[in-house]
Amino acid sequence: MSSSTTQPRPQREQWSGQLGFLMAAIGSAIGLGNIWRFPGVAYTNGGGAFMVPYIIALLAAGLPVLFLDYALGHRFRGSAPTVFRRLSRRFEWLGWWQVFISFVIMTYYAVVVGWSLAYTVFSVTLAWGDDAGSFFYSYIGLAEEPTFAFVPILSVIAPLVLVWVFGIITVARGVAKGVEKANRIFLPLLVVMFLVLVVRALLLPGATDGLNALFTPQWGALGNYEVWLAAFGQIFFSLSVGFGIMLTYASYLKPRSNLVGTGLTAAFANSSFEILAGIGVFATLGFMAHVKNVGVADLEGITGVGLSFVTFPTVISQMPGGALFGVLFFGSFSMAGLTSFISILQVVAPAVAEKTGWSVPRATVVAGVSSAVLSVVLFATTTGLYTLDVVDAYINNIGVVGSTIIMCVGIGWVLRRTSQLQRHLNLVSETRQVGWWWRILISFVVPVVLGYMFFQAVGSYAADGYGYGGSFEAVFGWGMLLLGAVLSVVFSLVKWRTPVDDFQPIDLDVLEGVK
Ligand code: ALA
Repeated sequence: MSSSTTQPRPQREQWSGQLGFLMAAIGSAIGLGNIWRFPGVAYTNGGGAFMVPYIIALLAAGLPVLFLDYALGHRFRGSAPTVFRRLSRRFEWLGWWQVFISFVIMTYYAVVVGWSLAYTVFSVTLAWGDDAGSFFYSYIGLAEEPTFAFVPILSVIAPLVLVWVFGIITVARGVAKGVEKANRIFLPLLVVMFLVLVVRALLLPGATDGLNALFTPQWGALGNYEVWLAAFGQIFFSLSVGFGIMLTYASYLKPRSNLVGTGLTAAFANSSFEILAGIGVFATLGFMAHVKNVGVADLEGITGVGLSFVTFPTVISQMPGGALFGVLFFGSFSMAGLTSFISILQVVAPAVAEKTGWSVPRATVVAGVSSAVLSVVLFATTTGLYTLDVVDAYINNIGVVGSTIIMCVGIGWVLRRTSQLQRHLNLVSETRQVGWWWRILISFVVPVVLGYMFFQAVGSYAADGYGYGGSFEAVFGWGMLLLGAVLSVVFSLVKWRTPVDDFQPIDLDVLEGVK
């Protein structure tokens, strides 16, 4: 459909090589999900026994969907809407749905990274004093209850603006000069800083009690379906699959690229870091329990926002050399967050550029600034934490899970492309590692497991809400999802300004040497 109003297709950018891509993929995967989410999720879902559903979720759903994202992006070489459009016009809206999810996630992800930047500075003087809880809630200016007041909090807006400026400049510079370069600097720094932190934590008195609390298996938990759901949810968020990130990143790889090996390495690195974070966090909590002379199980605030921004600062104040520990913790938290944040913006910017024909820098500025404004209005205000909680639950448990189910059912059952994509993965990677099992997992196992999770979440949010209820949850939960669904369809109807359909995927017969 290359009409006279469309522009010629510019050469697609590429990563400088396989290593650059690998670092970006690992940088995207390692994020708030590893440092903030994993330790608490593992602890509350069976401790050591959580490793069983976690590894099953990784092998049965995380890796297969990661390979699917890679295969789609690499074969159809575009942003999510371009890829789904090239698969079938009927599925272009799914690409926009993934763009919408990323747009929403980045609005609040940036805010948490902004808090973390501020806390890196606060750590130098241990600014929270003896009451880290009151300090945090007054820093974010939290209102007594969720309302639509939107009163801005300047101390939250200032670091948030920095996060957005960094993200927009990095993505606007392009994948090789911007995203890849940022990962090449931040990822090694993050690993070194985090390793120092973990070693320091392990040397604290009480560290072993913390590790025992995390890793002592409660086997009974395995009979609880919620533990299994938590494992699948954790894997999807943490691996960055199902909402366009890995699909977009893979579209910038050279035609012959080892997708399979890279996927395995990225997943292994991500899970290793997750476990390392669990060790670091729980060794530190063991120290806190030791100081308070209580059991680790009796500590409060060892999950979610409270863990990083209340409990950790409290412990930091109590340890010798706490300021340095704080800078290491919040510094690595910020870097992990920034490299994931740019990968989410990288889903949105090229989608806008490809649809409108704008240059990547222009599309990045337009998409980035509009998301940044929403970010400030919705989350850097007195009710920001409530909004964040609702939006995060609905967009992940319904949005991302729904997107992945439709992707698997669409490709496995409606378009019947799993054999072609399996062949693509094997031929471009020059391996035969992806076998029939991959097709079974994508067509049956992932849709069934995620379908169950999806209906559980929809049923429970519809019946009991997510804990806020009323118009607040209706607007930021269901309303937000409905808006996304409508926008996805509307965007898919807008005319393309680049020759999206004028495209030939790589000929697999030529690659195999049979033609
Ligand atoms: N994968 C990213 C994280 O874990 C989104 O935070």
